[in-house]
Amino acid sequence: MFNGRLQQWSRDLRSLSRTLLGQPAPALLRSGRVGGAPAVVRMVRATVVTRTVETPDAISLELRSLDGALPAALPGQFVTVELDGDAPKRAYSIVAQPAPERVVIAVKRIADGAVSPQMHALQVGETLRLRGPLGLFVVEPDIARAQQYLAIAGGSGITPMVAIIEALLVLEPQSRIALIYGNRSAADTMFRSRLRDAAARSNGRLRVQFVDEAWTADSTETSSQGRLDEATLQREIDHAGMAATAIALLCGPTAVMQHARNVLRGRGFAESQIREERFGTPQATVRSRGAGTHTAAVFVGTQRYQFTVAPTQTLLEGAQAANVPMPSSCTMGGCGACGIDVEQGELVHDEPNCLTVAERASGKGLACVARLVSDCVVRVPNQRGPR
Ligand code: FES
Repeated sequence: MFNGRLQQWSRDLRSLSRTLLGQPAPALLRSGRVGGAPAVVRMVRATVVTRTVETPDAISLELRSLDGALPAALPGQFVTVELDGDAPKRAYSIVAQPAPERVVIAVKRIADGAVSPQMHALQVGETLRLRGPLGLFVVEPDIARAQQYLAIAGGSGITPMVAIIEALLVLEPQSRIALIYGNRSAADTMFRSRLRDAAARSNGRLRVQFVDEAWTADSTETSSQGRLDEATLQREIDHAGMAATAIALLCGPTAVMQHARNVLRGRGFAESQIREERFGTPQATVRSRGAGTHTAAVFVGTQRYQFTVAPTQTLLEGAQAANVPMPSSCTMGGCGACGIDVEQGELVHDEPNCLTVAERASGKGLACVARLVSDCVVRVPNQRGPR
């Protein structure tokens, strides 16, 4: 049933966008945590169809599956990408899904990164592997809903926001969106003109407030200069005129996310109104060690599986060795696809990872970075969302 809803959203979005905007369908979208994630999403081969330079250090890539249609993405979802060789996987937000077998992603180059320089070197016609769409940082558009959305993005954190904003503009005509978007400078701002143009066409439904650290000749339309710290966010949220009943969507560097969360809490936003997308930074990963070999009991739907996990293994690695079908994607703690509810026992997690403070407090875990300190019982939840 869930796949049917996704496919219907996809058809609605493509149809409405062509009609209302007179342009290709926006990226299909993803959210903080949405419902009914598939247990296992297949890996497909894909080829680069177009490569577009967005900023001096960011590109977008349109990828076409060579193995048939991909599931329809929700606004805010991502794909996990694997390059040839032994490069680690990376999760990239889907900026758009212009056709069932195509997705557009954006990649910011990290100078000493293990993957992004290779992604930037990809040319049209080259191939890679991808899995998805996945992810729970999603918004499920509802044509009858009248909602305020406050999106706060830093740098490449804009990528899921573009998909979400474009979907909401088309599929939630009574809703209003304010985007506060911080970057080093106007020239470093991904999708700047695309967002500016969307705001100009929106009849006041989309307000975009650029915040640039460096003021340049291109900054004339920028709302303000500075970093996305708490003082700046207080001022920008005042400008946006958003009430504490708005849904807040956060994606960006850890410091920006923390500043935003502090400000929103201080303004009375309920925890349930704040949704975050977090991707781990593998370079900074602190690996936890389990203690001894332990037994894991895992419930997947109505099925119960039991297997042992060595101290050198994560829970997911133990499950895979025992052929237990636990969901996963990035395998680096960055996407949430391997989320679990811990019912008994003690686990420790490699850090950093995408678990929120609230999720940790409520006993959520991530199988791909979880190590057993004792025997445990965990459950693979039916995902619901948006969180
Ligand atoms: S598979 Fe992505 S967080 Fe575990």
